[in-house]
Amino acid sequence: MKVDVILGLQWGDEGKGKIVDVFTPKYDIIARFQGGPNAGHTIAFNGKKFVLHTIPSGIFHSETQNVIGNGVIIDPLILFQELDKLRESGLSPEDNLLISRRAHLILPSHRLLDAALETRKGDAKIGSTLKGIGPTYTDKYGRNGIRVGNIRDKDFIDRYHFLKGSHLEVIKNMGFDISIFKLDGLSFESYETQWLEAVDRMKSLSVIDGEIFLNQSLDKGKTVLAEGAQGTLLDVDFGAYPFVTSSNTISAGVCAGLGISPHRIGNVYGIFKAYCTRVGSGPFPTELVGPDGEAIRRQGNEFGATTGRPRRCGWLDLPSLKYAIMLNGVNSLIMMKADVLNTFPAIKICTGFQKEGALIENYPFNPGDPSLEPVYCEMKGWDTSLETCTSIEDIPAALNAYIRFIEESVGVSVDTVSTGPDRCQTLQKERL
Ligand code: GDP
Ligand code: IMO
Ligand code: MG
Repeated sequence: MKVDVILGLQWGDEGKGKIVDVFTPKYDIIARFQGGPNAGHTIAFNGKKFVLHTIPSGIFHSETQNVIGNGVIIDPLILFQELDKLRESGLSPEDNLLISRRAHLILPSHRLLDAALETRKGDAKIGSTLKGIGPTYTDKYGRNGIRVGNIRDKDFIDRYHFLKGSHLEVIKNMGFDISIFKLDGLSFESYETQWLEAVDRMKSLSVIDGEIFLNQSLDKGKTVLAEGAQGTLLDVDFGAYPFVTSSNTISAGVCAGLGISPHRIGNVYGIFKAYCTRVGSGPFPTELVGPDGEAIRRQGNEFGATTGRPRRCGWLDLPSLKYAIMLNGVNSLIMMKADVLNTFPAIKICTGFQKEGALIENYPFNPGDPSLEPVYCEMKGWDTSLETCTSIEDIPAALNAYIRFIEESVGVSVDTVSTGPDRCQTLQKERL
């Protein structure tokens, strides 16, 4: 069997959590392959809403196994906050959760370091989620990290203090007193105490060799869906560096983040919103800073699921969508949040950029270049509610034309259209 992939084609928050949950009944295993608690994946059904940060979005289906792969980085305290919340809702998430022993741990001092580095950057800050993502991946690639599989080692606590000590020294050398930084409202010391308790609790979870489990499962005919976090335009190699996250968010990341060979990648489902959003700093060529941007934010409830920050909003950008499709090998598109544009009489789409009189249709190296002017085409809005749409055939003509235009521009079909946050507000073409 092959591993199918669902990932974001924009700057994250496309609706990956919702769609993974909708697709889960077709799969035996859902696996996260990169990122960490910087992710916030929202799932809504039966009038309830859940936000997951580390746990894969297949957790609401008790017959599905959920794997946190080796490419993911884990903050044990955040993981247990998520598990406890799910348990309070009557679920038994530990029963269908498996964690790779090769996944790296986010230490409280990684979070401190994230905060110190961002503070030192001032106006040039990345706008990180402050979950310790950059410093933890830095230690992974610098070969200093501590992995889930080390928790039971006799020298675990010594290694913890050694690594923490080196972080505190760096922060001190930057001229900061650690007491100025709060970790989710807690002092470093209180966070550390709870974190160490959570590390102890992790011993009760199912820790496995994820790569062996997944490959053996595929050999036995099991179906696997890999769940991306963040989005292609935040990829460490292909996003607008340095305004990126610290992992490979693209489909290539599935191989390294789960231990899967490229031959085993199957369908790649690319998710995008009918417009664009971005949270944090960095270039956003089609950003709307006026009332249209406000209207999208309000109607789309565009506030970060992890940090609560308002998301920047703008029109759909076809050069970046094409670039993302190319990088990931997307063969099926999923369009989210069409309903947010219901009241717009006209909708714009960026088809390219003008630079010093020349037309650029490829995604530029520096999308923040002030001499780049987005070129827009304008389409009629559908100006009607999508609430009564129960199949793709019910879509109003103007929305259909919008979708056709996107499909023809990027060369991949939109097979799923989402018209609301709930599981059941999902329209799919027959072949899926
Ligand atoms: P993720 O990080 O990609 O999983 O996305 P987030 O959960 O951070 O953000 C997506 C937001 O949009 C969540 O609040 C979802 O409940 C919501 N959402 C998902 N699909 C739709 C949709 O089709 N329409 C509307 N209005 N909201 C949606
Ligand atoms: P999901 O999985 C949207 C952004 C941050 C910041 C940059 C770097 O919910 O789509 P980091 O904490 O990774 O060092 O921050 O990346 N960012 C996200 N934006 N959705 C996410 O995840 C994000 N994860 C990180 O806002 O600009
Ligand atoms: Mg999100």
